[in-house]
Amino acid sequence: MQDSELTALTRYAKSLAHLTPEQESFLLAHGPELKGHLPQITEYFYENLLAVPEAAAFLGERVDQLKKTHLAWLETVVTGPYDNAYTAYMYQVGKTHVLVNLPVEFMAGGMTLIMEAFHASLQTLYRNDPETLQAMVRALTSVLGFSLILMQKSYQLSANAEQLTRFLKITGISRELYTNMSKLYKE
Ligand code: HEM
Repeated sequence: MQDSELTALTRYAKSLAHLTPEQESFLLAHGPELKGHLPQITEYFYENLLAVPEAAAFLGERVDQLKKTHLAWLETVVTGPYDNAYTAYMYQVGKTHVLVNLPVEFMAGGMTLIMEAFHASLQTLYRNDPETLQAMVRALTSVLGFSLILMQKSYQLSANAEQLTRFLKITGISRELYTNMSKLYKE
């Protein structure tokens, strides 16, 4: 994806998820306080996925390796920055899941588990500071929503691209011919 497309997608996803500059600044300042809680969030995530047979079927033997990449990603969630590089990474993560044929609803399911686990940690960490607790819930909801939108966008576009590749293969139409036909086609 080109830089201008990444910038547009970042802006679009942030506006939908209400990830405002204030929320971002709040997370950059306070997010690192959550670092010590991230391993238990990753554990919660995989423990619950493994309990769902349809999800467990995708995890197999590689859970330990997946936990490492998941934890590294969680660290970027709480430390940012939420720039074009973050968007490009989330877009790539979405694509990785498309390539293993993971149903798209697993993305929303996964984010729900992550938010649930964050809630438990936040209750402990900020039990004496309800204001920061509330601000943190709002900021995390936004940043996780932002991440989910980026993965879903990637799903949508990757699925379209895959369908087109299949269509061209079945019909024997070359990509060049298809591109030229599309340019000429008017609704
Ligand atoms: C919120 C949702 C999720 C996030 C943020 C997430 C994050 C990630 C990340 C960061 C990677 C590594 C990507 C890479 O290195 O390119 C990954 C790979 C993977 N994830 Fe997820 N994941 C999510 C949901 C799920 C769910 C629900 C499942 C299965 C039930 C799953 C199964 C996998 C598998 C099988 C891979 C490895 C794919 C491969 O390279 O063969 N993920 N995920």
